[in-house]
Amino acid sequence: MVKVIYTDAVGSIEEVDGRVGDSIMETAVRNGVPGIVGECGGSLSCATCHVFVSSETEPLLSDMSDLEDEMLDGTAVDRRPESRLSCQIKLVDGCEYRVTTPETQL
Ligand code: FES
Repeated sequence: MVKVIYTDAVGSIEEVDGRVGDSIMETAVRNGVPGIVGECGGSLSCATCHVFVSSETEPLLSDMSDLEDEMLDGTAVDRRPESRLSCQIKLVDGCEYRVTTPETQL
């Protein structure tokens, strides 16, 4: 079992049961969670899946690739130290993920 807790820019919270191996972007799109667009379908070419990762979630994540790092320089809302692209975060069984979406992705 995997849980993803999305908080939007005004503090509304949506809690979703995810599927192991799916990304946080795919989980949001499949469940109609607003705030994540995922325009390129996860191929690291749009940066419309930008999220801010909570400090509890950060240790669960694998290192960022150079390409993800580059793409984060082109997000609609400026990146922060806790920024990641949610299409690159794959869900692992037994984990709970908390992310906040920016005010806009476009
Ligand atoms: S969905 Fe396009 S970069 Fe993540």
